[in-house]
Amino acid sequence: MTAPKKLFIKTYGCQMNVYDSERMAEAMGGQGYVETQSPDDADMILLNTCHIREKAAEKVYSELGRLKPLKAKNPNLKIGVAGCVAQAEGEEIMRRQPAVDLVVGPQSYHRLPQMEERVRAGETALDTDFPEEDKFERLKSRPKAKRAPAAFLTVQEGCDKFCAFCVVPYTRGAEVSRPAAQVLQETRDLVERGVREVTLLGQNVNAYHGHDGGLAGLIRDLAQVDGLERIRYTTSHPNDMDDALIAAHGEVPELMPYLHLPVQSGSDHILKRMNRSHTAESYLKLIERIRAARPDIVMSGDFIVGFPEETDADFEATMELVRQVKYGYAYSFKYSARPGTPAAERATVDAEVADARLQRLQALITQHQREIQDSMVGRDVSVLLERVGRETGQMVGKSEYLHSVHVENCAGQIGDIVNVRIVEAKTNSLTARHLD
Ligand code: SAH
Ligand code: SF4
Ligand code: F3S
Repeated sequence: MTAPKKLFIKTYGCQMNVYDSERMAEAMGGQGYVETQSPDDADMILLNTCHIREKAAEKVYSELGRLKPLKAKNPNLKIGVAGCVAQAEGEEIMRRQPAVDLVVGPQSYHRLPQMEERVRAGETALDTDFPEEDKFERLKSRPKAKRAPAAFLTVQEGCDKFCAFCVVPYTRGAEVSRPAAQVLQETRDLVERGVREVTLLGQNVNAYHGHDGGLAGLIRDLAQVDGLERIRYTTSHPNDMDDALIAAHGEVPELMPYLHLPVQSGSDHILKRMNRSHTAESYLKLIERIRAARPDIVMSGDFIVGFPEETDADFEATMELVRQVKYGYAYSFKYSARPGTPAAERATVDAEVADARLQRLQALITQHQREIQDSMVGRDVSVLLERVGRETGQMVGKSEYLHSVHVENCAGQIGDIVNVRIVEAKTNSLTARHLD
């Protein structure tokens, strides 16, 4: 028997790339590959890339530059680029870095096995199609190996919203939903392998239409799966937050009280220029309705500062919206002009001004995050135990609010959901005592 070939995958970008990397590793398993944690002994290196901001895309080329010398040491080594940079730049990648043998877009990676055979035969392989066939149907079913208790599961892909700054509609294509039956089957498989919590993924997951009842209908069906204890979903668009989904937050106990609902800006003028088709006020009203359904929900969001033509007043409106919502978590980014998007044509805000705004916004977000963490002290929450902390030896897991919780004197095992009392808040985590 020949020794297995080794595959090293490095993942950039969003959770969907994390999910895709797992599926690619499984597909390559069929080609005789096992995963390795180091690029040094790999026979195939795959970078699963992100194109969302300029820095993310440039990282890929510097990584490729670092990896190239490994080819001199191992003549069998093949290097591939997958994900959103692959989709956006295609052949250009091989021109810019000739060490690359294979380029595969996010909608065609079910064809990786055939592409691998071509590169083994000494050719290069490029596939950035948006094929008609369903890649999830074509991919090998997931092997029955044991899994960590929390898993990602892609249910929807692509985006039809075309925010003026964003590359996703171009790199991931139009919105497509996986049929509910397929999602249910994959969930049952995951549960059999030890999964207790799934996070349903989509670039615009609440536009899911693979179930007659939309995302809410899918969540209600998943809540019936024996052994599945927790359901989350991300990322949502405010315009697709329908009544049924809001109601589910109040009625489905398995649906966790945490919601990532990006707004990007608090200024109506900028929201309009971003092509967001909602206002700051409609967003705030929506949050009021969500909080009415589930008062303890922790909100999370994304912001872009320094969008073209953003004035001081526009930025102050963003600060005001943040004060009103008080996010438990929020991610803020300096605007990055992306080739091919409408906003890239417009005059940019001075870099120093944008930096100063970003710092102010991040300071406010951090302050709120800390206040919400502090307010957890003394409260009882449930924690899904996911791992043993490297430094403390304590069990670590996530609360229903997605806080990272270290549990002292924990009697539970990985995969258990335990009741704990929060005793201390630290900057990025909470400490708790095991109850019962
Ligand atoms: N589908 C999700 C996530 C998109 S990408 C959504 O609609 O929210 C994640 C975040 O990256 C976005 O929410 C946005 O805040 C940020 N982002 C996207 N394009 C960007 C750009 N050109 N410059 C800076 N940040 C950007
Ligand atoms: Fe990008 Fe999200 Fe806007 Fe779609 S909704 S274009 S993924 S920011
Ligand atoms: Fe990046 Fe593509 Fe995700 S651009 S954020 S990896 S959808």
